[in-house]
Amino acid sequence: MSLRARISTPEEHGSRGEDGHLVAAYRAKLLEEIDLAEMSALAAAERRARLERVLGHIISREGPVLSTAERAQLIRRVVDEALGLGILEPLLEDASITEIMVNGPDAVFVERGGRVEQLPLRFVSADQLMQTIERIVSTVNRRVDESNPMVDARLPSGERVNVIIPPLSLTGPILTIRRFPRSFTLQELVGFGSLDEPMVYLLAGLVQAKFNVIVSGATGTGKTTLLNALSGLIPPHERIITIEDSAELQLQQTHVVRLESRPPNVEGKGQVTIRDLVRNSLRMRPDRIVVGEVRGGESLDMLQAMSTGHDGSLATVHANSAEDALTRLQTLASMSDVEVPFEALHDQINSAVDVLVQLTRFADGARRITEIALLDSHGGEPYRLATVARFDARPMTADGRVYGAFRYFPLPRRTADRLYMASQPVPGAFGVARSADQLATREAR
Ligand SMILES: Nc1ncnc2c1ncn2[C@@H]1O[C@H](COP(=O)(O)OP(=O)(O)O)[C@@H](O)[C@H]1O
Ligand SMILES: [Mg+2]
Repeated sequence: MSLRARISTPEEHGSRGEDGHLVAAYRAKLLEEIDLAEMSALAAAERRARLERVLGHIISREGPVLSTAERAQLIRRVVDEALGLGILEPLLEDASITEIMVNGPDAVFVERGGRVEQLPLRFVSADQLMQTIERIVSTVNRRVDESNPMVDARLPSGERVNVIIPPLSLTGPILTIRRFPRSFTLQELVGFGSLDEPMVYLLAGLVQAKFNVIVSGATGTGKTTLLNALSGLIPPHERIITIEDSAELQLQQTHVVRLESRPPNVEGKGQVTIRDLVRNSLRMRPDRIVVGEVRGGESLDMLQAMSTGHDGSLATVHANSAEDALTRLQTLASMSDVEVPFEALHDQINSAVDVLVQLTRFADGARRITEIALLDSHGGEPYRLATVARFDARPMTADGRVYGAFRYFPLPRRTADRLYMASQPVPGAFGVARSADQLATREAR
């Protein structure tokens, strides 16, 4: 169900003047009587019929003097407003839009196909934008005001909404709506040119052979999408526990436990972090732990889990390169309340992480795997990354596209052995290095 279908009352169509007051008053009364949660379960036509019926009762009860035509018109206007989100509505209905960004009342941007464009749309005033924002966040029982000027929430329909208002924002209320990402299979991602067939075979083998995989990239590069597709390769008999800040993964297997963290309430209580969930999940006999995004002290718990028998775990981390991802995991793990010496963390990462998959979003909007690397170092050694696949981009062409080619490099012997033991083939495109100098390795601290 779309966001607009779940939202209640807007005022965009100018409720000014006398009957504007009437419309606003009845809209408020209507909202007092309807149950939003219940409403959202209804189909659009039913929802309208229901609102009309309830409003009809309210008007009869209150008994304003209205002609039949006036009454019908009032009902239509109140219900129109109660069902819409004004200028945001058509945007929310447009499936090609992945992100809506409102930078104050005068600037509405959208992302389509990876490209951001400004639309010739504006809200009447900052107040009107603020009302729209309040309507959106109230559907998830959240509040936004001066004492609570930042809200980050997932709507029941899956969209992620972020709001930040003055005085923190200097350009009026800011609203960012991120559409619930569609899920794609690896084959579909191949269709987009995000990776190619040999890489699919390799990744499938690595996931099935229970290598621990870290997907890294900046925001919006497709980490969650790839994590979802990779998770789809986990055999159906395994018990999978997914842990996320805002549940986006859509696994098709039957034995899946989905956990979602919880922010503190208005009084600052009741918070449950990703870290709490990771720790708890270890007591739930998981075969696989899938962590949506590692961004805090849970890094340590996850690394410990990965290196102590919970093989085949998958996670994403925000980083711009494979080595950056390692550094980031290390930094995050050191932020945990447990003091772990640097060398021990380093050791932990060497034994926990097996595969790094780097994603990049190119200037033309295309998202691609730009590197698959195996972590081939042990113990306290500096990190040694063996690149096994890489995308070599060429400069952008006149048509604004970025072209390039995927290249493959031999797998480390150790990786090939592990695949072999798990009855997974080494895809022919890669082959196995006969000696260390055939590997495309680099070291990092
Ligand atoms: N390989 C891809 N090709 C095209 N679009 C993609 C690809 N991967 C993700 N997307 C789209 O890009 C947006 C961001 O993807 P997401 O996986 O949420 O990114 P991240 O988790 O890195 O922030 C979503 O709308 C998603 O559908
Ligand atoms: Mg994500």
